[in-house]
Amino acid sequence: MQSEMDLTQIRAQFPALDTHVYGKQLVYLDNAATAQRPLSVTELASRLALEENANIHRAVHHLAALATDRYEGTREKVRAFLNARESAEIVFTSGATAAANLVAFSFGEAFVHEGDEVVVSVAEHHSNIVPWQMLCARKGASLKVLETDEKGLLQPDALEKCISERTKIVAISHISNVLGLVNPIKQLVQKAHQFGVPVLVDGAQGIVHEQVDVQELDCDFYLFSGHKLYAATGTGVLYGKREWLDRMPPFMGGGEMIHTVRFSGTTYAPLPQKFEAGTQNFNAVPTLVPAIDLVLAFRSSEAVIREQKAILDYVLSAFSADDRIVLYGHAPEVKIPLFSFAVKGAHHEDLALILDKMGVAVRSGQMCAEPLMDHLGVSGLLRASFAPYNTLEEARYFVQCLNKAMDMLI
Ligand SMILES: Cc1ncc(COP(=O)(O)O)c(C=O)c1O
Repeated sequence: MQSEMDLTQIRAQFPALDTHVYGKQLVYLDNAATAQRPLSVTELASRLALEENANIHRAVHHLAALATDRYEGTREKVRAFLNARESAEIVFTSGATAAANLVAFSFGEAFVHEGDEVVVSVAEHHSNIVPWQMLCARKGASLKVLETDEKGLLQPDALEKCISERTKIVAISHISNVLGLVNPIKQLVQKAHQFGVPVLVDGAQGIVHEQVDVQELDCDFYLFSGHKLYAATGTGVLYGKREWLDRMPPFMGGGEMIHTVRFSGTTYAPLPQKFEAGTQNFNAVPTLVPAIDLVLAFRSSEAVIREQKAILDYVLSAFSADDRIVLYGHAPEVKIPLFSFAVKGAHHEDLALILDKMGVAVRSGQMCAEPLMDHLGVSGLLRASFAPYNTLEEARYFVQCLNKAMDMLI
């Protein structure tokens, strides 16, 4: 794929963007929930299912070897994408949620005991809260909550105040799916490490918008879902430092995660197979390869960078000029084009339904972040989240439709 793609070429790779809803051209602004799939991903997934379908890591036949090579080649691709030290530190999961549960369970089994503490932030997605709550309930540990600053950012000084000698892990998001701000992850990791506490970074949104180098960030775990990054659904990645993964017990037992199985006792496979029990999603995981290629092409495309900046500037200035709109997560220097907002005097769901009739797909509700909604004092919000295939023209249409919807309701 050439490095300088224009928006028309990019959009042509995503057939869903041509959809019409209620006779209107679809304007898809729910990318933080899931991104649309490009042809390179759907064609590969379909070809693997139709022509290269065989279970991996098992049989000696040709198709099995082909499928295994593709799967393991994908692991190396992800390793390079994240700059992990070795591909054994890359574990495939069904998504970010599965990866968070894996760490909460396995790390928790090994390292969290009665009276210990786990720190999460108030701005986490439920999938980076509930697994830790479950762990704490199991172990008699407790959850400490890191609050954001007034802009919506997590800050190292505030983190320091949440850490005690009983803190076993800090689990925080790179970018909140509600606030759309890039947290100072490197500094947060440094702060936790000063106290000897490891950090899990929920990168479900971060990986989409930021270049991630896990060695530079020095985080202990980093996780994300494939479907928000244009890859097939049911794919996900957990990066973990070997020093932790080696010392964590398996999450699930089953085929291929073992070394030997005897009724007298079972021994486990080395990394990463120890954490990949049962038949893996081998038709879908390799779609991470074209998806990563696309992400890299987006990042090097001047056209995409220009358009994304124009969208960010345009929506921020349109929102700040309208006193009916309250935007949450307002730090323009670290803002991604993700806008969660309330409209005074109108319910978020009513607005979302009207926007839908105009062809504009936005998210409404609690966005799997109920504690944050409580903290902000709202019952729900609207969220417009843009991807590199979205255009300034679409942003303008969205604001125009939002204005019409607000005029109808207020
Ligand atoms: C910040 C964040 N973390 C975790 C998740 C969970 O991702 P998944 O449902 O793909 O497992 C999401 C999904 O919206 C998210 O935005």
